[in-house]
Amino acid sequence: MGLHIGSIAPDFTQDSTAGTIHFHEWLGSSWGVLFSHPKDFTPVCTTELGRASKLKAEFDKRNVKLLAVSVDNVADHARWVGDIEETQGVKQAFPILGDADRKVASLYDMIHPEANDTLTVRSVFFIDPAKKIRAVITYPASTGRNFAEILRVIDSIQLTDSHSVATPADWKDGDDCVIVPSLQDPEILKRKFPKGWKALKPYLRMTPQPNR
Ligand code: BEZ
Repeated sequence: MGLHIGSIAPDFTQDSTAGTIHFHEWLGSSWGVLFSHPKDFTPVCTTELGRASKLKAEFDKRNVKLLAVSVDNVADHARWVGDIEETQGVKQAFPILGDADRKVASLYDMIHPEANDTLTVRSVFFIDPAKKIRAVITYPASTGRNFAEILRVIDSIQLTDSHSVATPADWKDGDDCVIVPSLQDPEILKRKFPKGWKALKPYLRMTPQPNR
């Protein structure tokens, strides 16, 4: 099944290091980031899980639950978590799904056979509280993800939802934003953007970040 931006994130029930997870129920009214790891006891994944745990408070601030998936069983994960905590100096702060049967990896098309028949690539699914997929990023196994970028994507999507702005190239929190082209009503524009905006072109209107 092709999963696209706007698709409903498939529901599943799967074991994890924090017990059985019924995915939609577990998400509740939170956002979710579901991200895959090629295999337990691999070096890049070990650093990624440590980094994500260190940033847990940043994800909490944004009402985002983190959920990792790796195609090994929970007993292996438990031993691996010991290594992660020892080498990365942080407690594992969110569950890792035991996906030895590849239920979740298959449902989310995380195994790309042209890359590897059995290991997952590094997929990241951003899921909103309506369970809609809002963004997807995919890296090869050899490239560790940038978790600051994952937070930046969440900030951008949440800003679009709350303030009708898009974010330009290389945007970071606090930079000017772009007013979405669909907003044209002058009264609504004035109400939504009391700090004003600069129309560089009729379609390119920059405004200070509205929630700052
Ligand atoms: C890793 O997580 O370190 C890794 C996994 C598969 C291939 C290359 C690196």
